[in-house]
Amino acid sequence: MDSYDAMIVARVLHVLGVVMWIGGVAFVTTVLIPALRKLPSQQQRMELFETLEGRFGKQAKIATLVTGLSGFFMLESMNAWQRYQQPEFWWIHAMTFIWVIFTLVLFVLEPLFLHRWFHRQAQKNSERSFKVLHRMHYLLLTLSLLTVLGAVSGVRGWYL
Ligand code: HEM
Repeated sequence: MDSYDAMIVARVLHVLGVVMWIGGVAFVTTVLIPALRKLPSQQQRMELFETLEGRFGKQAKIATLVTGLSGFFMLESMNAWQRYQQPEFWWIHAMTFIWVIFTLVLFVLEPLFLHRWFHRQAQKNSERSFKVLHRMHYLLLTLSLLTVLGAVSGVRGWYL
């Protein structure tokens, strides 16, 4: 496999990773959390959330790793690190920013304290906690979709 093929494989893995990951975030934000917020039982809401988002969390970890590794591989293969210093490549910054946030949340903050902290907050005031959780998911989903828009256009020379 020459470097041209490797670049195509990396791009395919990158886009597959993004689809699984951001698609999952879209489902959790627009379907799962709204459905959970409508459940009358707080206990059931928390249990379902932990089971379902826990399963997605494992997939998201793999997708985040694949997306990040393939992304850095492409930057290295194209010798394109200087893009971090060029404003028209704002979408490279945006991709890296989204990736850093999710990596921090999934691999560091969640296992360290976020999971336990949310559990405690939800026991104190379930409605409010799920409302804040929903808002955070909407924010991340919006930023992620804007990033996809910027990246797909930017790759084709349309810098928006
Ligand atoms: C460490 C994180 C990341 C790095 C280093 C990275 C790097 C890259 C690179 C180098 C490209 C190819 C650019 C080109 O061909 O000129 C690319 C394409 C792309 N990336 Fe990322 N990326 C990262 C994370 C993300 C994330 C989090 C998303 C989604 C929110 C994303 C979405 C895309 C999309 C949609 C493309 C365009 C694919 C195409 O149209 O060919 N990337 N990325």
